[in-house]
Amino acid sequence: MERIVVLTGAGISAESGLQTFRDSDGLWNKYRFEDLASPQAWARDPELVLDFYNMRRKKLFEVEPNAAHYAIVKLEEKYDVQIITQNVDDLHERAGSSRVLHLHGELKKARSTVDETLVYELDSWELKMGDKCEKGSQLRPHIVWFGEMVPMIEPAAQISSTADIFIVVGTSMVVYPAAGLIGYAGNEIPKYYIDPKASHVGGISNLTVITKKAGEGVPELVKKLLSD
Ligand code: OAD
Repeated sequence: MERIVVLTGAGISAESGLQTFRDSDGLWNKYRFEDLASPQAWARDPELVLDFYNMRRKKLFEVEPNAAHYAIVKLEEKYDVQIITQNVDDLHERAGSSRVLHLHGELKKARSTVDETLVYELDSWELKMGDKCEKGSQLRPHIVWFGEMVPMIEPAAQISSTADIFIVVGTSMVVYPAAGLIGYAGNEIPKYYIDPKASHVGGISNLTVITKKAGEGVPELVKKLLSD
């Protein structure tokens, strides 16, 4: 079975109603990431940080996967599909994808601030000051913040290097190390980049750029790949 690796970013969830980061209506145009998504922000004002992720988690409980998430599930009929997502939502899993690697953490999980191996599923949107791990310390969002290591990058790079086809969907490709993963894919393999503003990418061999929204471009590409 050929292996397809799909690298996704916030754009794939935009049509579900989740905000991206760098579009004109994106989160980092409204808020400063230094105030909300960094270890310094957590040290300075943990309540503000919890509120930001609570707001986003609440929204996540209200939205559903869209046509792009579902189309990627269909690829499993013919391919070994591995998703690498920068997204902290769970829309790939809820659509039914089998293998999803989260590079930047997961919004519906919390983890201990004294022992990073203690990770907990959250069944409601609210994480509060005073919510503690079993060792008695405050829980934080299970998110990779700016300035923190990206623990899943090594397995992600390894998976990328084994791709027979590499698909990128809905990411501005400006945040490293995630944006570098396409560089691990073989020069000769076909690569696709679906994003309405994807035209700026250069220096990648065998790249087909599809300047469409994910909800249209992904189902079209999946149809083609299933009939090839
Ligand atoms: P960005 O907000 O940087 O980029 C979103 C991309 O989605 C842009 O290229 C848009 O053109 C595209 N887009 C918008 N609507 C779309 C649609 N309907 N279909 C397809 N594409 C669409 O988001 P990311 O690239 O995911 O990290 O950002 C990377 C990381 O930066 C995030 O994981 C997050 C952020 O800071 C952390 O929080 C650690």
